Amino acid sequence: MVSNFPKIPSSLITPKEVWMNRRSLLAGAGAAAMMPALGTEAMAKLGDLPKLETTKTDFGKDLKPTAYDYVTGYNNFYEFGTGKEDPAANAHTLTTKPWTVKIDGLVNKPGDYALEDIVPKVVEERIYRFRCVEAWSMVVPWDGFPLADLLAKVEPQGSAKYVAFETLVRPEEMPGQNGYFQALPWPYVEGLRLDEAMHPLTILANGLYGEELPNQNGAPLRLVVPWKYGFKSIKSIVRITLTEKQPPTTWNIAGPSEYGFYSNVNPNVDHPRWSQATERPLGGGLLSSNQDTLMFNGYEEQVASLYAGMDLKVNF
Ligand code: MTE
Repeated sequence: MVSNFPKIPSSLITPKEVWMNRRSLLAGAGAAAMMPALGTEAMAKLGDLPKLETTKTDFGKDLKPTAYDYVTGYNNFYEFGTGKEDPAANAHTLTTKPWTVKIDGLVNKPGDYALEDIVPKVVEERIYRFRCVEAWSMVVPWDGFPLADLLAKVEPQGSAKYVAFETLVRPEEMPGQNGYFQALPWPYVEGLRLDEAMHPLTILANGLYGEELPNQNGAPLRLVVPWKYGFKSIKSIVRITLTEKQPPTTWNIAGPSEYGFYSNVNPNVDHPRWSQATERPLGGGLLSSNQDTLMFNGYEEQVASLYAGMDLKVNF
């Protein structure tokens, strides 16, 4: 069964600048075509979405954020198609209000929680490195709050060891769930060990750049785990379940030899089909070169102790 799911085609790992340049050549256009050639009405612009009340933090204060158009125009969200521009073009169909998150499993306070009861009125802005398994990277000013705060409210029981996450299934609003070709099994699911979920760097984001999350980035609530490959950062979450056993994860189901449960960013452990030693920062321009990928995506000091004694080649 597993082998029926497609591997990521090489077209999906084409560096953004090459991809955009190809598009502009095809369009026979000049400099203006260097921006993604999306329908302008579908392409969110900074300032379009409601502003959030945020507090600035020191997280990533030395990092330069990737331009908003790249963060919101070059996405992976297979529920809206497998192309990088598909989410920005298609995700406007998603209704995100009202939104409920079911929290269940090994917690003392399970329930169906309204988004407003989960997200604090004032959220933190944190600038994080974001590294996709396809070897491109960004720097994103996320707005959100520690997942640990939410977990503390629902009181995990002593036997809880993992946290499982689930994305919405709504084929009528998600074209990728509604055709002959289904790229992945739905719902998209992800998981963390409880200590990873409780780590202070792990956040739930409801915004970026000080505004509500654009739908293509996983509105209204998505996970961000900055030391792991981007596919762990599950979007449009509708369920969080505390479990005793390690939960299944979508890309591990789709390609178990290529995508492990841990998926920590690690320049020393290559993907079976490409190197993970370097990455291409989005928005760097045509002439920008790859940069070295950092162990745990640069968060080694904060998270290495979570994996003390573990063989990271075996637990990839
Ligand atoms: N979550 C859902 N539900 N569906 C997806 O296809 N793609 C993942 C992750 N979360 C995905 C998802 C992958 S592969 C990446 S790299 C990131 O989302 C991309 O996040 P971004 O589009 O905000 O950059």
